[in-house]
Amino acid sequence: MSLVPEHIKNLSPYTPGKSISRLKRDLGLKYVIKLASNENPSGPSPLALDAVKNALFDYNRYPDSAAFDLRKMLATRFNVKVENVILGAGSEGIMSTIMRTFLRKRDEIIAVKNSFIGFRVLANASGFKTNWIAMDHYHYNLASMAKAINNHTKIIYLANPDNPTGTYFNVKKFDAFMSKVPNRVLVLLDEAYFEYAKDVLDYPDSMHYRYDNVITLRTFSKAYGLAGFRIGYGFAHKDIIKNLMKVKLPFEPSTPAQIAAIAALNDQNYLRHSLKLNEEGIAGMEKSFDNYGLEYLPSVANFLTLVFKNEKAAKSFCKSMLQRGVILRHLSGFGLPECVRVTTGTKEENSIFFDHISHIIKR
Ligand SMILES: Cc1ncc(COP(=O)(O)O)c(C=O)c1O
Repeated sequence: MSLVPEHIKNLSPYTPGKSISRLKRDLGLKYVIKLASNENPSGPSPLALDAVKNALFDYNRYPDSAAFDLRKMLATRFNVKVENVILGAGSEGIMSTIMRTFLRKRDEIIAVKNSFIGFRVLANASGFKTNWIAMDHYHYNLASMAKAINNHTKIIYLANPDNPTGTYFNVKKFDAFMSKVPNRVLVLLDEAYFEYAKDVLDYPDSMHYRYDNVITLRTFSKAYGLAGFRIGYGFAHKDIIKNLMKVKLPFEPSTPAQIAAIAALNDQNYLRHSLKLNEEGIAGMEKSFDNYGLEYLPSVANFLTLVFKNEKAAKSFCKSMLQRGVILRHLSGFGLPECVRVTTGTKEENSIFFDHISHIIKR
């Protein structure tokens, strides 16, 4: 169709993993476990659910477009001003606003080839040239990214920790990288898994820096368990935020999302429980994978990525799990066909998964 630009015609859309209801329908299964989308398996915080329910009769009104209460809370929590905070429909919503706000004419983007698909779709949909940098043994290669900067570079996307590998770049590498990034280049630092990684000693918490050309993106979708509400947040210099606020959809995020996020931020017990459950889940998975000689990448997030000897072995593992009612994420869509990503589940889900491994993998 001539109405559609070439880059949209050629765009591969984001394809999420199989849903629980679909698998139940397809295989006639009663019990299905989804360890595929890096969601929090604990359900939303009960405080968030109560808050959302208690406000049901206000949902005929538009949301507070400045989302002042939540922005104020985040500003206080992270020791910045309200003018340094933006919200969006998930951190991806903010990424989308960033692309629409800052890119023009011959600007270019730098990002990593096998990193977060959501950004890849946004970059390809933008129509701007993107320089895709290869990973180095499943890790970001910041030195190569810095080398790729040219006069047209406008946005650099970094996910730390990365999805789908779970690996991270450390303070030393980040400092060396930032020393090579000119001020005219905006660094989009995606810290969707920040809460899981923050206690790793050499993890570069971007809020300990004050770069005028860095925007930090975080989310309520992971450790806070609110993925379905679609709410994320960003911190940056007030001029960046001011301009993003002009471009963002006026009523994003929705009222229930704002209300749920405020309550979830106040529910530190839920957060502690989620982080502990994840820590135990990761430790259990590592033990089980070691036991069965399965190779995996070192992860500081809420998932582990298995590396098989080839695509066939990875696919076969996923298929066997699927037939047993466990949905995992085969990473061919990320350009890593030999890999399978497994998100930590509840204690019960993890132990069922381990039990299935014992039937699928011959020791
Ligand atoms: C690296 C990374 N960034 C962003 C997101 C999306 O987060 P949100 O739900 O806030 O849009 C994800 C979700 O999987 C992710 O893995």
